[in-house]
This record gives sequence, C-alpha cells and structure tokens, in this order.
Amino acid sequence: MPTQSPTPLHAIESASRDELQALQLTRMQWSVKHAYDNVPHYKKSFAAKGVHPDDLKRLEDLALFPFMAKGDLRDNYPFGLFAVPREQVVRIHASSGTTGKATVVGYTKNDIDIWADCVARSIRAAGGCPGDMVHIAYGYGLFTGGLGAHYGAERLGCTVIPMSGGQSEKQVQLISDFKPDIIMVTPSYCLALAEEFVKQGLDPAASSLAIGIFGAEPWTNAMRVDIERRMGIDAVDIYGLSEVMGPGVASECIETKDGPVIWEDHFYPEIIDPVTGAVLPDGSEGELVFTSLSKEAMPMIRYRTRDLTKLLPPTARSMRRMAKITGRSDDMMIIRGVNVFPTQIEELILRQPDLAPHYVCVISRPEYLDELEVRVEMTLQFVHADADAHHAVTRQLTADIKNLIGVSANVELTLPGTIERSLGKAKRVIDRR
Ligand code: DLL
Repeated sequence: MPTQSPTPLHAIESASRDELQALQLTRMQWSVKHAYDNVPHYKKSFAAKGVHPDDLKRLEDLALFPFMAKGDLRDNYPFGLFAVPREQVVRIHASSGTTGKATVVGYTKNDIDIWADCVARSIRAAGGCPGDMVHIAYGYGLFTGGLGAHYGAERLGCTVIPMSGGQSEKQVQLISDFKPDIIMVTPSYCLALAEEFVKQGLDPAASSLAIGIFGAEPWTNAMRVDIERRMGIDAVDIYGLSEVMGPGVASECIETKDGPVIWEDHFYPEIIDPVTGAVLPDGSEGELVFTSLSKEAMPMIRYRTRDLTKLLPPTARSMRRMAKITGRSDDMMIIRGVNVFPTQIEELILRQPDLAPHYVCVISRPEYLDELEVRVEMTLQFVHADADAHHAVTRQLTADIKNLIGVSANVELTLPGTIERSLGKAKRVIDRR
C-alpha cells in the first residue's frame, strides 16, 4: 500500500484552456522553427508546401504544414532527423517494425527529463504515490516501454523493480516475494502472468498489486473489466509511441477511467481524415497526428501515428483526452470489403463467460474470397462441457460477429494454452493472403 500521499498536480494539469493554449502556441512556434532551422528534411518539406515557420500565428495554422510519416524516419535512417549535434544525444531507442530498417529516435538530457516527468505524471494519474513499489514488465532495451516507465517511476519517488518482459515464473515469484503495489505491462502479457499465478497454485487477485498501468497495444474496455476481475486491481490505460517519445504521451486518470489524458503541454494532437488529410473537429473519429512541443533532439511536426481514435473534452485534468484506440490502420483487416479490427472481435469474445481472452484472427483466401477464422480459447472449466454446449457458444459468437460487425467468420474453440502468448505486444492477426 502507498507509503506516502499523492504528489500535488503540476499547475498546468489544472490550468484554464486559455493558459494551456497560450503555452502551446509559444512552444509550437519554437518547435516548428527549431525543426526548420536544424533538420534539412523539414527545410525541404516546408519549402515544397510553400510554408515557413513565420506562417504559424495561431494553433490552427499548424494545418498548413506538411505531415511526417514512418517512411520519413526510414528515409533519414539512422540520425538524419536529429536537430542537435549527435554528441548532445544521450539516448537512442529504435523500433524494429516488421519490414525494412528500424526507426531510430534520439533524446537530449532535457528530453529524457521531460519524458520522466510525463511518465511520473502518468503514474500519479493512475493513483501511484511516492514510496509505492512498481514492478516493470515492459521490455527493456531498444523498445521505449521498459526504460520509459523506469525513469518515470523513479522520478515520482517509487521503488522500481526493473524486471523487463519474459520469465513468467520468476515474475510471479518476485511479485509474491517483493509485494509491489503497481505493475506496468502490456495487457496481453498481464493475462499470461495471471495464468502463471494460477499454474503456481496462487490466486492472482490475492497478490499485493493494486494498480496496473497497461499500454503499448490496443485493448478494449471489456478487456479492462476482465483484467480487473482476474487480478483484483484497477487497470488504467497508458499510451505513447517511440517516434513521439515513448510511453506517457497520454495516460488515464484512475478516478474517471475515461480515456488517456493527452499531456498537451508537450504534445499537440490533431485528428485527420486518413484519406484526405483534412483536420477534423474534436469528437470525430480519424487518425491521430502529433506535434512535439518541447523535444530538442528529434522534433516531430505533424507525425501521422496511424492510430485511429477521437479527441474528447477534458474531465479530470485541463487537457483533452483520447478515446481508446480502435486499432492501427495497419491492423485493420479488410474481409470481403468490410473493415474489421481485432478489438471489435475481442469485445464480442469477452461477452462469453466460457471463453478466455486469448484469441487470434487468421485471414486466408482459399480461392477468390477472403475467409476469416477466429481461434479462441475456452476456459478450463468449459473444456469439460458437452459438445452441445460448445456448439452453442460457437454459434453465438459467429452470429454476434455477423450481426454486429457484418462479416462471416469461422469460429474455432481451442484448448487452453494453445494460442501463442506474447511477452510484449500480442499478435492478433495472421494474414495468409
Ligand atoms: O508501444 C510505447 C509504449 C510503451 C506505450 C509502453 C505504452 C506503454 P511503440 O513500440 O513505438 O511504442 O509503439 C507505438 O503502439 O502507435 C499504438 O499503435 C500502440 N499503442 C501504444 N500504447 C497504446 C495504447 C510503444 N494504450 C504504437 N492503446 C502506437 C492502444 C497503443 N495502442
């Protein structure tokens, strides 16, 4: 249990909208100029669009500027987007991606400091206090999850267990022995840990853990309810991406659990139409775009995240929130012309108490038409039910997918433990087309 009281909010977390926007404009003007003056890529792309940093007079003027995409990072591999001499870059991270070269990002000492502040703020929003013990099971290394969470937890004044991902048996042993208050981990790996508890004859809900801070992959509110029940914790959502910083770009408040608050004093969000690129009003669903407002080593101007969500009005803090990510445009399955996200399937699976939240979608095209197979594990108890009961659940899930998503799927119930467990981000789609 927390050994100290919560730290006070940072003044900007309860500032007025006007104060926040004034700060955003000053910082945005600095960031756009910093990128233009120091990164040849921006000088070229601004010129090609006929814009100059002096054109940025109001926040809305950002729409005049060109987008950045993952391809721009690859084209400037490895250090071409750095805006400071390489000697001032104190840390490099990279994401492997599935094809081609890694995307590389860099941080100055000041960037690392602000990152730690943002993650500390995120843990505070999740209900964490100085003196709490935090078990970090995000991977350490080039992935931003482990080290990002680590520096933030230390910054808040927590005791950190830098466990990293994998070695589930040892994870459970350390949680049982050290008795941490908070766990930071991907939701899918948390489920694997819950299974490991049971395997060791322990009840995961009886562990010392009171709070889980989950992110790095899409997960639904239905999954939140399931994890909270299994683990006996409060589960909150933390969002981020390496190109923009890492974990802690946005994070959810425990008192509202209504979507991650975007730390808008450092990251300016826009929602755009993914096809036309037009900026959409708050509340519309589209692709999330970020502009960094304070990053020195690698400023990001209008980075297209490919994440689909919408911007929501402020509640527990002065900043806007984002709705839970529906999915990445890269995860979207197009089945006979219908767009389907794994999260939609997840929600329907979790309606069935006899199914476990372990699933994978396999797409194939045996002849001319796409076929979707949803493989999902049964709970241990349900394995022993009779064939009629199995058929009934299969029929129900098939009908739900048809009626609520609009695609025909072959549902296959599998035995517990047969779907591959992730140590980090889960792979939900296998495309065999
Ligand atoms: O996943 C950073 C991170 C680490 C965030 C730990 C949260 C916790 P990348 O590997 O660059 O960075 O992957 C970024 O992961 O564009 C989203 O598609 C997805 N993602 C991250 N957080 C969430 C979340 C880290 N809370 C990509 N919900 C992002 C849904 C998320 N998707």
